[in-house]
Amino acid sequence: MKFFIDTANLAQIQEAQDMGILDGVTTNPSLMAKEGISGDSAVLAHYRAICEIVEGDVSAEVISTDVSGMIREGEVLAALHPQIVVKVPMTKDGIKAIRYFSQKGIKTNCTLVFSAGQALLAAKAGATYVSPFLGRLDDISVDGIQLIEQIVSIYAIFGFSTMVLAASIRHPLHIVKCAELGADVVTCPLNAITALLNHPLTDVGLEKFLADYRKANG
Ligand code: G3P
Repeated sequence: MKFFIDTANLAQIQEAQDMGILDGVTTNPSLMAKEGISGDSAVLAHYRAICEIVEGDVSAEVISTDVSGMIREGEVLAALHPQIVVKVPMTKDGIKAIRYFSQKGIKTNCTLVFSAGQALLAAKAGATYVSPFLGRLDDISVDGIQLIEQIVSIYAIFGFSTMVLAASIRHPLHIVKCAELGADVVTCPLNAITALLNHPLTDVGLEKFLADYRKANG
């Protein structure tokens, strides 16, 4: 399972990259705004900076809602760097744009997916990634993990090559559950990734090893 980080914060991307476990980055307009990135040239420069930190795919989202605007924007984004994946919302125009990009060999990430039916359309259109938002489903008392299971199983039945990129991850258990279900990728905030490191018995065990070492070595 690949680990992507879901942020536009360069320091956090660098920290995950330095751990040696980072496979890519996803961003969205809210995450870019959170970093204070605005204006076309600043946005493009920021995507380029992200691509310089990581080696894997970097999702950059279009803002247009009509197919021609999505195509225009997506082509600019894709030309920016070979690691760029054009992130397109799950709408009728989005599906048309994904089909267009797929025929042109441009990688896509179909975002804002909340149902298996939407995931089926994304795969049919040739999306490289589909992003089911599991945390936002949990937030409204719908089991997000169940959606991941459903999509993974439908894609396996038909042999779709679209990768399941579990998004809107809130905590480390989401990550472990996605791994159990065979999601191809999880995109997570840094704190969900680093939380995987923690276990109280690791801390206690390490403390004891070091105390015994000090006792034996003075
Ligand atoms: O990038 C898309 C997704 O991961 C957003 O997550 O936490 O805003 O629901 P969240």
